[in-house]
Amino acid sequence: MSAEGAATATSGQASNGAAEAIHIENLHKKFGDLHVLKGVSLSARDGDVVAIIGGSGSGKSTLLRCINCLENPTSGLIRVNGEEIRLKKDGHGHTVPADRRQIERIRSRLGMVFQSFNLWSHMTLLENVIEVPVHVLGVKRDEAIATAEKLLARVGLAEKRDVYPAFLSGGQQQRAAIARALAIQPRVMLFDEPTSALDPELVGEVLKVIGDLAREGRTMILVTHEMKFAREVASHVIYLYNGQVEEEGPPEQIFGAPKSERLKQFIRSIG
Ligand SMILES: Nc1ncnc2c1ncn2[C@@H]1O[C@H](COP(=O)(O)OP(=O)(O)OP(=O)(O)O)[C@@H](O)[C@H]1O
Ligand SMILES: [Mg+2]
Repeated sequence: MSAEGAATATSGQASNGAAEAIHIENLHKKFGDLHVLKGVSLSARDGDVVAIIGGSGSGKSTLLRCINCLENPTSGLIRVNGEEIRLKKDGHGHTVPADRRQIERIRSRLGMVFQSFNLWSHMTLLENVIEVPVHVLGVKRDEAIATAEKLLARVGLAEKRDVYPAFLSGGQQQRAAIARALAIQPRVMLFDEPTSALDPELVGEVLKVIGDLAREGRTMILVTHEMKFAREVASHVIYLYNGQVEEEGPPEQIFGAPKSERLKQFIRSIG
């Protein structure tokens, strides 16, 4: 979709000279009469870790879901890997994808990790990790298994490769979900509150894996309520309030010297 009517909408983010991975301009999303995203813009370059914070219902998940084409924005522009997602209006005036194959291609560049793990319960961890590479991306089974073993080792689950998700703790399941998302070799990882469904004692092990990925220079967009963690790993923080970017900037500014009263109050309420 073209960005007709889009205000000049580069985020205030300093360019680090790396290539653009995700670019969003003036994004709007309505569910019927409910106007959830009201002109959100952001961009992430290779190596950026963009943390999105904000209260419940502010539109954080909807924003991530639009990037991954799980929701169709009402208007605005999204570019993934330099490719603009093409949308059109259907007979009822709803926005729908103009090209299904493009959606598949875009999704294959994004590794998504949800709050509720979403592992396939009838498959072992290894099968979970190789499923998309083998059956969707056409990777040879042997190669996919070798990669999956490395990824499971990396998230500390080498010895659990033949175990079914039901026999694992929430933290282990979420680490397996991260390995599965990495298996498609995504350009960008999208995390939607990856630790908020976990018992407190399991949060640390999952944050450690995500933190390691961030320190390795992996590009990610991370919705989180873990403010201390966001402060540590993010290169840029966006505070969403009621579907708009209320304030954004480097973590030192957002957490150390917030300007907006709403953001100050949000940080107090959560921290
Ligand atoms: N499919 C949908 N249909 C109708 N309304 C929706 C849909 N998805 C989300 N909404 C509404 O959009 C608003 C934003 O929801 P969203 O899930 O993006 O918020 P959030 O910031 O992720 O909140 P939380 O921190 O609770 O996860 C909410 O009012 C929600 O009820
Ligand atoms: Mg959410």
